[in-house]
Amino acid sequence: MTQAATQIFPVIMPVADADKRLKGRDKVKALSRLARSALMRSCEKSGLHLDAFPKSDTGVPLPVGGVHWSLTHKSDMVGGVASLLPVGMDLETIRPVNDALLAKVAAEDEWQLVGGDRQKAFFRFWTAKEAVLKAVGKGMVGLSRCRVVAIVDDTRMTLTYDETPWPVAHFWFDGHVAALTAHYLPVCWTLL
Ligand SMILES: CC(C)(COP(=O)(O)OP(=O)(O)OC[C@H]1O[C@@H](n2cnc3c(N)ncnc32)[C@H](O)[C@@H]1OP(=O)(O)O)[C@@H](O)C(=O)NCCC(=O)NCCS
Repeated sequence: MTQAATQIFPVIMPVADADKRLKGRDKVKALSRLARSALMRSCEKSGLHLDAFPKSDTGVPLPVGGVHWSLTHKSDMVGGVASLLPVGMDLETIRPVNDALLAKVAAEDEWQLVGGDRQKAFFRFWTAKEAVLKAVGKGMVGLSRCRVVAIVDDTRMTLTYDETPWPVAHFWFDGHVAALTAHYLPVCWTLL
C-alpha cells in the first residue's frame, strides 16, 4: 500500500528570482514547469507514479493510471499534488481586496460563518472554492454551485459542490494561503 492511501502530500516551491523577472508567455511556461516539479515531488512523497500530464479539451488535468493531479502557480510560489482521489489545489498571496470581490466569492449566509474579519477570511474562501472547482474540473463556471457550509478551525472547512461535501485543508505561510481538497485524510504539507 502506498502512503497515498492514507495521506495527501501537497508540495509548494518558491519561484526563483530569475523566473520572477520573466514576462508573458515565458513566465507562464516557467511557472507551469516549476509547478510540475512540485507535482513530481508530491509523487515521490506519496509513492505515486505519473509520467504524463494529459488534459481534457477544456484544460482539466486527467488522471493517469488512477493518479489524479492538480497544479497552481502564482508569480512567487507554485504548488503541485498527486492523489488517488480527485484533487484540487490552489494558492494565493494574501492582500487587501475590495467589497465587490468579497460579494463575488461568497453569499451573505456563507460570510455569516466567519463572524469577524471578512478580509482575513477572503483568501480562505477564494482558495477553498478554487480547489474544489479544480477537483470537480469546472473552474470558474462552477462558482455559484460551490458553497462554504462549515468552518471547523483555522485549517479545516467544508464546502459543497451541488450537494456533495468537499472537506478542504488550508496551509498558511509567509503571507500566503494554500488550499487542498482533503477527503478527510491527513494532509502532510511540504514547503521547499
Ligand atoms: C483555471 C482555473 C481552474 C484556475 O485558475 P487560476 O487560479 O488562475 O490558476 P492556478 O495557477 O491556480 O491553476 C492553474 C492550473 O490549473 C489547472 N486547470 C486549468 N483549468 C482547470 C480546470 N477547469 N479544472 C481543474 N484544473 C484546471 C491547470 O493544470 C493549470 O496549470 P497548467 O496550465 O500549468 O497545467 C479557474 O478556476 C479560473 O479561471 N480561475 C480564475 C480566478 C478566479 O476568478 N477565481 C475565483 C474563485 S472564487
